Amino acid sequence: MKALVLAGGTGSRLRPLTHTSAKQLVPVANKPVLFYAIESLVAAGITDIGIVTGDTAAEIRAAVGDGSAFGARVSYLPQGRPLGLAHAVLIAREWLDDDDFVMYLGDNFIVGGIGELVDAFRALRPDAGILLTKVADPSAFGVAELDSSGRVVNLEEKPAEPRGDLALVGVYLFSPAVHEAVRAISPSARGELEITDAIQWLVDHGRSVRPTVISGYWKDTGNVTDMLEVNRSVLEGIEPAALGTVDDASELVGRVRVEPGARVVRSRIVGPAVIGRDSTVTDAYIGPSTSVERDCVITGSEVEFSIVLGGSRIEHAGRIEGSLIGRDVEVTGARRAPRAHRLVLGDHSRVRISG
Ligand code: DAU
Repeated sequence: MKALVLAGGTGSRLRPLTHTSAKQLVPVANKPVLFYAIESLVAAGITDIGIVTGDTAAEIRAAVGDGSAFGARVSYLPQGRPLGLAHAVLIAREWLDDDDFVMYLGDNFIVGGIGELVDAFRALRPDAGILLTKVADPSAFGVAELDSSGRVVNLEEKPAEPRGDLALVGVYLFSPAVHEAVRAISPSARGELEITDAIQWLVDHGRSVRPTVISGYWKDTGNVTDMLEVNRSVLEGIEPAALGTVDDASELVGRVRVEPGARVVRSRIVGPAVIGRDSTVTDAYIGPSTSVERDCVITGSEVEFSIVLGGSRIEHAGRIEGSLIGRDVEVTGARRAPRAHRLVLGDHSRVRISG
């Protein structure tokens, strides 16, 4: 069995974080979402991985390399334009050969991995296996309708009036039957070859499509609260370790991971939390459910339930909570300055000023 991981596409709803970088590389607990996908494929015994890339190919290649760090063999499959998920299957036809495969959308995150699903697919060999989960906003997803015996009867991509709340999760299992389906369909109203339509084609042609309903799912719907929540739940499982330096005046409480080269000085860190490589935390409090990526400087501030991306500085900024702070951002207090805000904000930034 092979895996086709989709890391192409353009645009993103996680702005402004992904203006400048691939959305599949947004970190959860200091690790790109895409890495969790690759790790769960390898854990399910799938090591032959083809990654579909678009405009951000160089960045994806630099992050993943040849896959050996994951115990995988990675091939890159450039997709000229992001013409849809089924189009990605079309361009990968030769590489996929006549093998069964998992198609994994690189911006999806599935808590608990896919081992059982892959085992069930191998045992039952349907033409397709799909994952469904209940969501609050089904019109942002592909939506599946099941009959009373749990069989898939209808699939629709981003319906204005969804027939139910079961969304398609971005992990699909396919037999080579899918190749006929992706060749048979036409582009949707949004101009993409939809994998949802290809699966409907399989249903309509009497092929077996096996649904599995899961919980523990996240995708980048642009909802910062969701992202903080998935970060929180992953941090709860991290291995505590003080690999950097922590001085005697500092205290680490609970699951705290201080990565190599990081320095904690006169600070209190209450886990679960991670302090990334070469970051420095001085005279600060870092509270639960916080990820600080590499090369950050946090001084004289309190940060809780937040994600701070690489290269950012937070100095004398008071207390920061429930925040998502991008790369190379500066947040500084201006204690003696006149009461005014000085802001240099990127497009689509969101700032909430109190007082
Ligand atoms: O996340 C689940 C949803 O993913 C499903 O519920 C939908 O049925 C499915 O169509 C898909 O919806 P999105 O519109 O949200 O997909 P998105 O454009 O975000 O693309 C998903 C991933 O695939 C992302 O990592 C980018 C990549 N991609 C996308 C396209 C359109 C490609 O590599 N090539 C492409 O042509």
